[in-house]
Amino acid sequence: MPNNTPSQHWQADAYARNARFVADYGTPLIDLLAPQPHERILDLGCGDGVLTQKIADTGCDTVGLDGSAELVAAARTLGLNAVQGDGQKLAFKHEFDAVFSNAALHWMTDAEAVVAGVAQALKPGGRFVGEFGGSGNIAAFQTALRQALHARGLQARECWYFPTAEAYRALLEQHGFSVPHIALFPRPTPLPTGAAGWLDTFAEPMLPAMSNAEHAAVLAEAAATAETLLPHENGQTIADYVRLRFVAVYGG
Ligand code: BEZ
Repeated sequence: MPNNTPSQHWQADAYARNARFVADYGTPLIDLLAPQPHERILDLGCGDGVLTQKIADTGCDTVGLDGSAELVAAARTLGLNAVQGDGQKLAFKHEFDAVFSNAALHWMTDAEAVVAGVAQALKPGGRFVGEFGGSGNIAAFQTALRQALHARGLQARECWYFPTAEAYRALLEQHGFSVPHIALFPRPTPLPTGAAGWLDTFAEPMLPAMSNAEHAAVLAEAAATAETLLPHENGQTIADYVRLRFVAVYGG
């Protein structure tokens, strides 16, 4: 789930149409979280709250946090306790039994601040369970966008954090976590609306300022290139997602 960046504005309906798979793939992560009734759990980067709802349904007291006002509003329509906030500036003090995060941490480029804030938010022995884009994630989209920008003398903005398992383990350990599980794995992902739909939904933060006409041309060209770089199955484009999944225990 996304955490907002200044140049990324999420429309809950478009997000649901183009990126519902984000929550679908996140469901097994809830098994890894193993939420227990009455636990207090923070969903960091809760998006429209679909997974927060599943956690709440197990009898937990959940708080969803996301940078996007639109997605927080969508989460609240489900009856969830959701707040708008920056995951890089968490101010909770040792009040959560667990922090959960699906497909959001790669949007928070100050990973050190995120991990420090999560450590401070957890009770001693609390779990940090998450999955996000790891090293090599969406390489084809990044190549396609860089090529389209470069052809116009423009440079992509660095907007995502895709670490290796070794680098993320080291960061967690530096902040007082033990890490019983961390693994990087490819997760080929069929795109319901093809490369163009993916780029419309997610590419914005990589794009520098440019005219509307240039913007449309860059996205169209990048979509065409990405379609040539990515495999297809049963008429669907398969995106080259790579996931980093981990379980960490604070003070454990
Ligand atoms: C991801 O879930 O890996 C992702 C989604 C959008 C932009 C970048 C990464």
